[in-house]
Amino acid sequence: MTILLKLEAVTKRFGGLTAVNKFSTEIHAGELCALIGPNGSGKTTIFNVITGIYTPTEGQVLLGGEDVSGKRPDLITGMGIARTFQNIRLFKGLNVLENVIVGKHLRLQSDPLSSVLHLPKYQNEEKEMREQGLVLLESLGLDHFAYDEPTSLPYGQQRKLEIARALATNPRLLLLDEPAAGMSPTDAEGLMKFILHILDYFDLTIFLIEHQMRVVMGICPRIIVIDHGEKIAEGSPEMIQNDQHVIEAYLGVSDHA
Ligand SMILES: Nc1ncnc2c1ncn2[C@@H]1O[C@H](COP(=O)(O)OP(=O)(O)OP(=O)(O)O)[C@@H](O)[C@H]1O
Ligand SMILES: [Mg+2]
Repeated sequence: MTILLKLEAVTKRFGGLTAVNKFSTEIHAGELCALIGPNGSGKTTIFNVITGIYTPTEGQVLLGGEDVSGKRPDLITGMGIARTFQNIRLFKGLNVLENVIVGKHLRLQSDPLSSVLHLPKYQNEEKEMREQGLVLLESLGLDHFAYDEPTSLPYGQQRKLEIARALATNPRLLLLDEPAAGMSPTDAEGLMKFILHILDYFDLTIFLIEHQMRVVMGICPRIIVIDHGEKIAEGSPEMIQNDQHVIEAYLGVSDHA
């Protein structure tokens, strides 16, 4: 199996706080892998290090063998890593299609907003992006919302739209930070199908953080568990559910059950 992403002893400190401690792992091309752990265990920090928001204090992030540690977030996006955020971050003044087009601009140029504002030199490029954006929305079953305000969409669809925007950057690796957060069981069910669909349809590799165990156990063949910034377990859902360290890390943290 080809290794797409490799983290080598990644440590991230904030002053005296070690948020991530010597965290190593490999993500293989084409896999769907989950990162779980109690609140504050360092999951989002790992995504922030992978996407260049933070430079690791120590250690390395390798994408396809190339060291990307500390590179600018837009360059890392250009190299094929896209993400969504724990809290929905959609642009409120733009419609659904425009939100997706912003994702395309993030990959293609450094000035996304001026081009969405239809300055003349962008018009041809803009037309092409609109067409591509519509095709993308159609492939995800979101095209009937194309001209709506993102906030008018049902919550579950807003989460999908965030994923659509990330997909618009043509990633190889998609990082999803708690995609099912705040979703009803029915919406979460739909999201699981959606994630499996895009994994296959876009030939992706997906690394996802999630608290809803039904989602994690239901679709992720491999799970990595982090506690206090350190990896404590890695394996199949069955292995993780029976792992003593994992059970202890989650004891008394009933909202994760
Ligand atoms: N920019 C920052 N400055 C200082 N401390 C930070 C910063 N970002 C994260 N931390 C701290 O690092 C630790 C790990 O935070 P992180 O957000 O990675 O946890 P998490 O596993 O994503 O938690 P949750 O499940 O609540 O989202 C926490 O103690 C957090 O307060
Ligand atoms: Mg987090």
